[in-house]
Amino acid sequence: MNNAGQSYFGKLADSYDRLQPIIAGPHYSTGIDTIVKLIAYGAGDDFRVVELGCGTATISDRILNAFRTAHVIAVDTQPEMLVLAAAKITSHGCRAKIVEANLLDYEIPECDIVISSFALHHLSPQDLQQLLIRARESLSTDGYLFVMDSMRMDHNWNKHIARLNRTLNEAHVRSCIDVGDTSEQEIADRWAFKRSMKEAGKDVEYKHRVEDYYQCFGKAGFGECAVVWRTFSITIMVAAGSSCGDDS
Ligand SMILES: C[S@@+](CC[C@H](N)C(=O)[O-])C[C@H]1O[C@@H](n2cnc3c(N)ncnc32)[C@H](O)[C@@H]1O
Repeated sequence: MNNAGQSYFGKLADSYDRLQPIIAGPHYSTGIDTIVKLIAYGAGDDFRVVELGCGTATISDRILNAFRTAHVIAVDTQPEMLVLAAAKITSHGCRAKIVEANLLDYEIPECDIVISSFALHHLSPQDLQQLLIRARESLSTDGYLFVMDSMRMDHNWNKHIARLNRTLNEAHVRSCIDVGDTSEQEIADRWAFKRSMKEAGKDVEYKHRVEDYYQCFGKAGFGECAVVWRTFSITIMVAAGSSCGDDS
């Protein structure tokens, strides 16, 4: 079968939850824990979250479990991922909604928190900028946007640090193989699949840097933005407020 004829995430969906925490490095799961901890609401508070590029909705599910009256809309373009997302979050009833939509033109409904994890590197710089504008417009006055993704910092980040990061990730994969969570063959197949999808133009990725995000947040009209957590390239940024209004 020619893998390149299928959608990248559609083909990966069934193994995604098991393999992503292995492939994405040791800090992917810690980053997800951190995003949930960064939500500045009490367990019984009523607030609205939109997760963009939710995949199998791991973060949405974690939020729905941790905050018993929060409402979450989980958005993705891949039906195969959304089937798994639905299996996780539909038990939360009307607090959870799955939306199949493309982030390029999705009108984000009014909400208190927008979250996106490991999805925005699939958007071109222009599309990222437009999405961030829509995200800011959708947020309530005290709302926040959290972005977690692999982001480089140009400043003093070069081959030695890149190699250290790679070595750390390889050691993590090796330890997962050693305990039987995956196999060398499965990892090799996964990378080969990724390469074939890249060659076919079906897994397009952009290397947005932290500096690019600062610029985009500013242009989108956010009043404030900051890196609030990072381990090597995996970074969480928060953006809030408005550069137009007085929200002192
Ligand atoms: C690497 S997965 C991340 C999934 C999940 N957020 C996580 O942290 O594990 C990227 C997800 O973004 C989705 N995605 C990429 N481009 C998209 C777009 N233009 N519109 C909607 N979803 C998109 C993919 O379908 C995929 O489910």
